[in-house]
Amino acid sequence: MSDAVLGQFEQMTVKSEGTYPRKARVGIIGAGWIAESHVESYLRMPDVEIVAVADLIDGKAKAFCERFGIKGANLYNSHKELLASEKLDAVSVCTYNRTHAECAIDALKAGVNVLLEKPMCVTLEEGIEIMRAEKESGKVLSIGFQPRFDKNMQKVKEIVDSGMLGEIYYIQTGGGRRRGIPNSTFIEQKTAGIGAIGDIGCYALDLVLNAIGYPKPLTASGYTSAFFGTNTDYSKPENACRFNVDDFAAAFVRLDGGIILDFRIAWAMHIDSPCDTIILGKKGGLRIPATECWNGTMSAPMTFYTDMAGSFTETKIPLIPNSEGKGLFYQKIRSFLDAVMYGGKAPIPTSQAIYNQAIIDGIVRSAKLGREVEINVPEV
Ligand SMILES: NC(=O)c1ccc[n+]([C@@H]2O[C@H](COP(=O)([O-])OP(=O)(O)OC[C@H]3O[C@@H](n4cnc5c(N)ncnc54)[C@H](O)[C@@H]3O)[C@@H](O)[C@H]2O)c1
Repeated sequence: MSDAVLGQFEQMTVKSEGTYPRKARVGIIGAGWIAESHVESYLRMPDVEIVAVADLIDGKAKAFCERFGIKGANLYNSHKELLASEKLDAVSVCTYNRTHAECAIDALKAGVNVLLEKPMCVTLEEGIEIMRAEKESGKVLSIGFQPRFDKNMQKVKEIVDSGMLGEIYYIQTGGGRRRGIPNSTFIEQKTAGIGAIGDIGCYALDLVLNAIGYPKPLTASGYTSAFFGTNTDYSKPENACRFNVDDFAAAFVRLDGGIILDFRIAWAMHIDSPCDTIILGKKGGLRIPATECWNGTMSAPMTFYTDMAGSFTETKIPLIPNSEGKGLFYQKIRSFLDAVMYGGKAPIPTSQAIYNQAIIDGIVRSAKLGREVEINVPEV
């Protein structure tokens, strides 16, 4: 074999072993809670260097780096300073929802690839601005939906793609918990912008929309409430007095292709779970037991229903352990970096996430108006 051929083989081997030809230079924007999970994953990658960390709160980036033993990283008090001073391959945008759009757009304009935490942003308008900046920059932008890497979640898509359900016409999805309102920056308009619907609702939507190929949303009739977050019987007084986002949402959404999406999500309610996810097709139905939403974990095996020669059948689909992988978070970050370092496409693209955001935006608008609204997603 010639040297040229052997050389190519060597390159392929390096790539398949997953070691980048040079260290990826990464920055962290927002040194809060979720940034910890990003950093824990980056620190497990010997071919990645965390070169800069920014947080608006004075001293927070420094304390963060000390806690994780990140040595030599430059520290900044805003994402703008960080982007102006550093030469980076990628940033993790780990800020609260309200600054997702600004940070992602500024990073793209600075020529930096972006891993943007979920939800994509707060409004559809912001989402479109992010997509425009992404298109103009030619950079990779991926959204942080780690349940996409859960093997059972992937099985849902495989089942739909296999055609066993036939044409899909109705989906019920959602999730949540009896009590579980987060605090800190999650509960205020000025930082979160949206509550349960953006925190865990976006995952429930992503699970089913990804499985059925992300059809375009057309209309939404939505409802939101905040009976628990604002009530001192259920929330600490210091949180209840500043709580001004939703802690429950429900909606009836029409999707392209005549598909109905029936959705509900809760941070708190007087029941253990609002629903299993069910996907109804003309040939079969699938029941997905209620999940935790954020980590993709199914509480029990899925069931596939169909008729066989006139008899009803129910097939349990064994749960698949995720144990052999490096974890969902690691995979979401590594797949993004692979796209950055090898010139691939975003593993979780904005072309999909924008429909997720459009539904959330439609539900919020409809809930305010008290009637069904149209959802129009402009072409970017
Ligand atoms: N994927 C997941 O499993 C998961 C889990 C929790 C939270 N999240 C998402 O992560 C995001 C952050 O959540 P969190 O719990 O870490 O919030 P947090 O409030 O703990 O941290 C956010 C940090 O961002 C900083 N910040 C805001 N704007 C900034 C800017 N322009 N420049 C620099 N720093 C800025 C804030 O000062 C704060 O310290 C949210 O959007 C949330 O939905 C994802």
